Amino acid sequence: MEQAKRIIMDVDPGHDDAVALMLACGSPELELSSVTTVAGNVPLPKTTNNALRVLSLIGREDIPVAAGASSPLKRQLTTAENVHGESGLDGPDIPDATFGPDNRDAVELIADTLRESSEPVTLIPTGPLTNIATFLREHPELKERVSRISLMGGSIGLGNTTPAAEFNIYVDPEAAREVFSSSVPITMSGLDITHQAGAGPAERERLRHSGRLGGVVAEFCEFFATTYKRIYGFDAPPLHDPVAVAAVLAPDLIETRPMYVDVECEGKLTRGETVCDFYGIAGKPPNAEVGIKLNREGFFELLCDALKKL
Ligand code: RIB
Ligand code: CA
Repeated sequence: MEQAKRIIMDVDPGHDDAVALMLACGSPELELSSVTTVAGNVPLPKTTNNALRVLSLIGREDIPVAAGASSPLKRQLTTAENVHGESGLDGPDIPDATFGPDNRDAVELIADTLRESSEPVTLIPTGPLTNIATFLREHPELKERVSRISLMGGSIGLGNTTPAAEFNIYVDPEAAREVFSSSVPITMSGLDITHQAGAGPAERERLRHSGRLGGVVAEFCEFFATTYKRIYGFDAPPLHDPVAVAAVLAPDLIETRPMYVDVECEGKLTRGETVCDFYGIAGKPPNAEVGIKLNREGFFELLCDALKKL
C-alpha cells in the first residue's frame, strides 16, 4: 500500500463529526496526525471534550487534540443543541475521555504538524472555519504545505440553518470567505452532496453490525434521526462530515464540479450563503471543487469497512 495520506481534522463534535473521526481512524489509507476543535454545534469546552471522548473510545489517545476558537471571527456564536443535544453527542452513553487536550492551541498545532511533515497535509474542517481562517492569516508561509482543504460546509442550493445558509458557513461567514479566497485547493462537500448520505433505518442496521463501535454509531444516528425528523421531516439524517473525509479517502465516490464560490457576509436574509457559480456566469476562475453526486452504496461500504477495523 502506498504511504498513508496525512490529514488534520478540525471538528465541532457533533454526531457526524464523531463518525467522521471514526472513518478517518478506521482507514489505514489515512494518517490522522492531529485534531483541532472549534465552537460550533456546542460551545468549545464541549466540542473539545467530545473530540477527546471519541478518540478515547476509538483507542487513539496518541492523536493530539488542541482547542481553537471559542467564537467566530467577529460574530456571536450560534450553536445547534436543537440538533445534537446539550452535550453535542446526546444519545448513547460515551465514557469520559482518557486523555487531555494538547497544551498548544489549534493554530499552533496545525502549524507544528505542517512544519514536521515531510509531505503536504490535507486539512479536513467539518465545523465553522474560524480556526482555518486564523491559521491562514497567521501562517501564510505554511500555506504551501497544505495540499487541499476538504471541507464540509455550504450549499449550492438550500440552507439548513436559514433558507440560504448551511450551519458551518452561517456561524462564521467571514472565516469561510477568507478560506474560499485563500487560493488553497478546496473540495466543498455541501448539503447538495451530504444529503445523499442519509442514514435511514437500513443503513443504521448495517452500521450497528459494523465492528465494536457500530452500535455507538447506530445510536448516534438514531438520536440524529429524531432531531432531523422533528426539524426537517427527514427519516434519514445526513452523515455530513464523513463525506468530507470520503472525498479525500475515496475521491472516486464523489462527483464534483469546479465553481467559483464566494460567501455572503453582508446580506440580512442571506448571511452565510455560499454563492456557487454553477454555470460560470461571473467569469471568475473556479476556486473550489463542489460536490454534486455521491456514490451512496460505496460511501456506506467505505464507512462500514472502516468501522470494522476499529
Ligand atoms: O450543516 C451541517 C454541519 O454543521 C455539520 O458539520 C454538523 O456537524 C454541523 O457542524
Ligand atoms: Ca460538524
